[in-house]
Formats: sequence, C-alpha cells, structure tokens
Amino acid sequence: MSQATSAHPPVELSADERAELLAALSAPLPSIPSRYLYDDHGSALFEQITDLPEYYQTRTERQILETEADRILEATNAVHLGELGSGAGRKIGLLVEAAQRREACRSLTLLDINASFLQQSVRSLQQRYPDVDVRGVVGRFTQDLDRFGEGGRRLIAFFGSTIGNFHPSQIVPFLRRLADITGPTDSLLVGFDLVKDVRILEAAYNDSAGVTAAFNLNILRVFNRATGADFDPDAFEHVAFYDPDNRWIEMRLRATRPVRATVPAISWVRDFDVGDELRTEVSCKYDQRFVQAYAEAAGLHLSAWFTDPDQLFALAVLRREVT
Ligand code: AVI
Repeated sequence: MSQATSAHPPVELSADERAELLAALSAPLPSIPSRYLYDDHGSALFEQITDLPEYYQTRTERQILETEADRILEATNAVHLGELGSGAGRKIGLLVEAAQRREACRSLTLLDINASFLQQSVRSLQQRYPDVDVRGVVGRFTQDLDRFGEGGRRLIAFFGSTIGNFHPSQIVPFLRRLADITGPTDSLLVGFDLVKDVRILEAAYNDSAGVTAAFNLNILRVFNRATGADFDPDAFEHVAFYDPDNRWIEMRLRATRPVRATVPAISWVRDFDVGDELRTEVSCKYDQRFVQAYAEAAGLHLSAWFTDPDQLFALAVLRREVT
C-alpha cells in the first residue's frame, strides 16, 4: 500500500459535519466551531487558564460554593447529585459534603465526553466519598442528557459558565432539554458569568502570560487534524474583545500576513489578507433578569440566585415550572 504524501490526509466527515463546516466557514465572518478548542493540549491549556490571576470565573464560582453550599442544599433538598461535563471534582465535592452534613448524598453521577478523564474523576471521588454511589456516564451534554438516569430529589450542576459558550439562540433549546429530564423534586444549578466592567472582562481573555492566546491558536492545529484543513497557526494572532450589543466576549484569530487556507473535504478555499479574521468562540455574559427570562422561556423558573460580594459570577438554582 502506498504512503499518503498529500498535505491534506483524507479525513472522513459526515454529511452533517460537512454542512456545518461549510456554513460556518462561508459566513461573512468565517468561524470554526469552538469544540475544536479542546483536544488534550487545549484542555490542559484551559486548566491553566482557570488558575490565571485575570481569569476570575473559576475561583469566584468556587468561593460562592464554599460560602453557599449549605444554602444551596437547603434550597434544593437534594440527595442525588449530578454534574454535566465533570471537572476535577473539586466543586461538586463541596456539594457532596453539604448534602452529607444535611441528610445524605446517596449518589453522584458524572457525565463527560472524555472516558479516561471521567474514569479518573469517578475513581478519585469514590475514594474520597466511600458512602456515595459514584458513577460515570460517557456522553455529550448537548446530546446525551437522557442517559443521566432517573430523577427524584436530584441536583444537576452545570458549572463554569460553560453555558455561555452556546450561541444565545441555543440556550433556550438546551435549557428545555434540561427541563425535560428535571422532575418536580429535581433542581438544576447553573453557573453564569455576569456582565461587568469591560476592563475586567477583556483582561480575563487577554492574560499577560499569553495562555489564552495559545489556547485560541491551538484550535487551528486541532481543526487541521480533524478535518484535513491546512490553516497555518503561525500566520494568525489571538484577538478577544467584549461586544456590548451581544453581551459576549468574542475570541477571533486575525491574519498577520496574506495566507491561503483550504479545507479540501468541503472544497473550501480562502485567501486571508492581513487583518482578516475568523471567529473561534463566544462567551456570553448575563444578569439575573436575562437568566430569569431564559429559564421561563424553557419552562423553568429561577428559584434561587447565589453570587459573590463583587457580583462577578452567579450560581442559579432552576426548577421546573409547576403547571
Ligand atoms: C469553558 N468556558 C466557560 C471558557 C469561557 O470563559 O468562555 C472558555 C475560555 N475561553 C477563553 N478562555 C476561557
């Protein structure tokens, strides 16, 4: 068998993927879907971002949980916990301990796309909480919510304002799918990054150590590998700014020299001039009124709101509307 020598090794894309990529790349402002930010290297860079001094979200959410975990459990009456897109277990652990102080934590279910990462989290949480039935479900929180299992006095957490990376038009459909798996005694706990001084917001996505820039540029390597494209990461630079009309931080990549990029699998070619940009991520920012409106549009209601003294971040308890 002959060795493939092409610069674009053949890649199998489904018809849906081809249609999605063609629409994204052919828009007036081309974009690359932000899920391509997260290969192993991208996930490691994101972990580093969460420790940066400018990136207040992760530590602020943890502080809110440290202060409010008991009140969250009181507001939700939960004995079964769950987490979508499980992290290293530090945040959910605070809720497990609060549940144990109050009554009991009977089970903890983690749903994550990355099987080996999930296995590690399940193992370490099971060791830490031997009385709790800890289980992992491999799946995507955008598609596999029904694999989360039966409800009843359950609290499902979706931390980190990951919801902010959905386009605003996707938030209500996503919350509606969450509402569908939420019974009358269940609750959702969702982290929302709040609208604030634009300097604080923009600093969080333009850190002085350049980790966010590396995270953003890594999308091109991941995208090239996954689709057979040939974007040259050395020909682009990181850009992030707050758009007050859309209330989101937008990450882009800007060409620093004329460069051609191609995606042969969808017959897409583009010549970038210096200054031409590609969108790689939006990160929406919220206030309580917006969260309430989104929740209501999805058949949920905002039953409690926990924030930090500087109102940087909030954890919202959402429950199903009683009809
Ligand atoms: C995962 N997500 C909530 C992060 C955010 O802030 O939107 C991803 C990120 N992008 C740049 N820095 C961090």
